[in-house]
Amino acid sequence: MKHWRLEQLPWDGFDPGQVDPALIPLVKAAAMVERNGGDYAIYLSRVFHDDPDFCAAAAYWAEEEIQHGEALGRWAMLADPDWDFAVAFARYRAGYQVPVDATASIRGSRAGELIARCMVETGTSSYYTALAENTAEPLLRRICTQIAADEFRHYKLFYDHLRRYLGREQIGLFRRLRIAAGRVGESEDEELAFAWHCGNQPETVRFDRARCTASYLAGAMGCYRFRHVQRGMGMVFKAVGLKPRGRLSSLAARLAWQGLRWRRARLARAA
Ligand SMILES: [Fe+2]
Ligand SMILES: [Fe+2]
Repeated sequence: MKHWRLEQLPWDGFDPGQVDPALIPLVKAAAMVERNGGDYAIYLSRVFHDDPDFCAAAAYWAEEEIQHGEALGRWAMLADPDWDFAVAFARYRAGYQVPVDATASIRGSRAGELIARCMVETGTSSYYTALAENTAEPLLRRICTQIAADEFRHYKLFYDHLRRYLGREQIGLFRRLRIAAGRVGESEDEELAFAWHCGNQPETVRFDRARCTASYLAGAMGCYRFRHVQRGMGMVFKAVGLKPRGRLSSLAARLAWQGLRWRRARLARAA
């Protein structure tokens, strides 16, 4: 069961005077990726076809992801009344398809698939926490806080199944790290860039992946603080089987934070 419903959000509390225009494009892009969650459930139900418990959990999970998209899309239409979520999403669907016809995980194993899912939920939980803390607009803050709570729960869901699968599939630390790093790297792939494009650029503008990625990242990276990176790194470490709170984890968090600040400065200079 979903943990909350769209109607329960305080839509009347929207305060246009508190909207930060820089956040609107980010919300539009996120709305589209989230709304597309149903396709991932189809993919997961094929990869885990003989695991009914997991398939049932994945179906509820996808419903929550779709609801994230609907909540963000509805907020974006309040913030920008000229924007039509349905139209933008139709464009996105027409141009981007999740490969749902897999019969095995593209990560090489089910445990690998679950590590990749944990990385995605680490990213989304950190991102929505950062967005919530970066907006003064009360409705968006509430939506993002609510979504972040779901994403932390999703992480736990996939982590619990990961532990179950690691009992049967032995995959070493090096491979786990490679899968985790690979999935984190994919956060700059076509999906988000194209969502940013469809959400924020007219159809007459040609899709330029590098430029859209840069625009998206420049906005998103500005929302993060060290504490978000630190918490996320703990989650990454836990998923690959390392101590989430230790010297190695805090060193990695400091390095990631330096990397993020360096990248942010470079993107700002390029803009
Ligand atoms: Fe989500
Ligand atoms: Fe999620």
